[in-house]
Formats: sequence, structure tokens, C-alpha cells
Amino acid sequence: MATVLALETSCDETAVAIVKNRQVLSSIVSSQIDIHQQYGGVVPEVASRHHVEMINLAIAQAFQEASLDWSAIDGIAATCAPGLVGALLVGLTAAKTLALVHQKPFIGIHHLEGHIYASYLTEPALEPPFLCLLVSGGHTSLIYVKACGHYETLGQTRDDAAGEAFDKVARLLDLGYPGGPAIDRLATQGNPQAFPLPEGNVSRPEGGHHPYDSSFSGLKTAVLRLTQKLQQESNQPLPVADLAASFQETVARSLTRRAIACARDYGLTTIAIGGGVAANSSLRRHLQTAAQTHNFRVLFPPLKFCTDNAAMIGCAAADHLNHGHTSSLTLGAQSRLAI
Ligand code: KG4
Ligand code: ZN
Repeated sequence: MATVLALETSCDETAVAIVKNRQVLSSIVSSQIDIHQQYGGVVPEVASRHHVEMINLAIAQAFQEASLDWSAIDGIAATCAPGLVGALLVGLTAAKTLALVHQKPFIGIHHLEGHIYASYLTEPALEPPFLCLLVSGGHTSLIYVKACGHYETLGQTRDDAAGEAFDKVARLLDLGYPGGPAIDRLATQGNPQAFPLPEGNVSRPEGGHHPYDSSFSGLKTAVLRLTQKLQQESNQPLPVADLAASFQETVARSLTRRAIACARDYGLTTIAIGGGVAANSSLRRHLQTAAQTHNFRVLFPPLKFCTDNAAMIGCAAADHLNHGHTSSLTLGAQSRLAI
């Protein structure tokens, strides 16, 4: 029964949590969205500085919220990859220093493994094997979860990640940053069938389509061409709600189709969703309907555990610690790393 202090600073949230196995004792998330909004996206240098300013305060708040002191902590974890290196280094260096000072084991966690573990926070009885559909600003992956530390990536994006596509299309439609929530809100007022858009299939060298890989850059270009055409043909305002709804519908259909095909082919009956795009209402609807039709169980962690947080990192680290896995204090940050 390990209790872990976990730090997550891979992108634009400074997050600290204390987790006992699959139970969250405290979770602090200091978002930088307001700061990055003015630049239209995350500025790595600004993100690192904000992490430096916030990390000690967030650690103190996590202890206060959990009503615990250092004696309760069995290990200290931090996200080590993938992410913005300067941002990762803040959490990683803080965690390693605290591990050294307090003589506790250190555990470095892969960010995507953290997203997988968000499902255990929601469903503590969940056990592998299951399929995880991870859809965030940086990733679109279908991961076969076999056991603690044993994962196989069965599908991924060949270009833009799903969240990245949402953010880019939102910028195109002048909806601000982050684009996913803006598109999701606007789409409720639009017709998802208004504009048929290409799903973006990935070809196989031997012909046919790769069944689990995604590609969103073609879809993004199709939305760009369509907006240009609509602007040329009429001087009416762009039908942004219909465009947002049609784009969102296409992404949701494409992700659902791939997840269901993958789960069925591998004999997996549970699909856990993770990452910020898991918040998307159309994706949730499509997956729920498909799950009922095909007799699958779909798990959606609450929004606070879908987007970046440290509780998911702590949950993964507690499991590793229970298995006797720890990391060396020489572990470095990496911008890219396969799970
Ligand atoms: O997992 P996350 O918080 O950070 C990364 O690790 O990337 O995901 C952020 C992404 C952003 O691209 C954001 O636009 C997207 O998740 N997102 C959404 C929604 N809420 C957040 N995309 C679609 N619909 C939403 N409701
Ligand atoms: Zn993430």
C-alpha cells in the first residue's frame, strides 16, 4: 500500500498530488491557460518559468489538503517524458532533490502511462488487460495495457494528434485557445452532417488502410479549403457552428471506429479513455453508442483526471513501487519517448 507524492510538469499545468495506491488524497493543478492564451498556444520558456514559481507552493498545498507530513510518504514521483524538456526538468529536479533530502525512493513516470492510470482512479477494481484510447494535445494512441509497465502501442497518429487538430481548426475558425472546448461548445449549435469531411485513412504499403492508425492533417486541410471556398462564394459570415460540428463529428467517428476495431481484433472487452480530448461530447456519444451495439465496456475518467494532473502520475508510481520498481536519480527528461 504505497503512498506517493507526485509531480507533473510536462506541459502547461503545474500539478502535485498525494496518492495512496488508487485513492487520491490530494490533487493540486495550477493551470497556465490564461497566460498562454494571449500567445495562441503554449510557449515553452514561459511554461518552465511558471512551473518554477508554482512548484513549491503546489507541494505545500498538496500536503495541507491531504493533512499529511513527510513521514506518510513512501516514494516521490515525477513525469520524466515525453513533454517540453525545460518544463519536465522542473518537476523532475524537484522530485529527485526531495527524494535525496528525505531519503525516499524516486520513481520517474512516462506521461502516457499516467494517462492510462487515470482509469484506475475512477475504477479502482479495474485490472488489465484492457485497451486505452489516449487522445490528447500531443498523442492519439491505442495502447494494449497488459500489466504494470507492459504496454503495446497498436495504433497512433501519423501526423497531428487529435487535440492538436482541434486546436488548429479552432485557430482557423478564430475560436481561440485551447480549441477543443471551444469547438465542443460551438458544435452544440451546429449540424454535424452539414459538411461531409474526409476521415483521413492511413495507407498500408501493401495496399488498403491501416486499421488503427489515424491521420488528421488531411482533415485539417479539408476544413481550410472548405472555409476558403465558402468565403469566396459568399460574403455572409462563415457557418462556424456547422463547420465545428462537422469537424468534431468526423474526428469522433474516426476515433470510435478505430478503437472498436482494435478492441475486437485483440479480444479486449474494456476500453478506457484518457487525455484531454476524452472530454469531447461527440466522442463520448459515439463511443457509448458503439459500446452498447458491440457489447464493450467504456470507461471515461472524470474530466479532472482526463486532462493533465499529478494524481494519475502518483497512481502509476504507487503501482510501480508496490512491484518494487524504482528509478535512478540520474534519470533525465526526454521530449520524446515511446511508452
Ligand atoms: O491531455 P491534455 O490536457 O494535455 C496533453 O497532454 O496534451 O489535452 C489537451 C488537449 C488540447 O488539445 C485541447 O484542445 C483538448 O485536449 N481538449 C478537447 C476538449 N477539451 C480539451 N478536445 C475536444 N473536445 C473537448 N471538449
Ligand atoms: Zn497529457
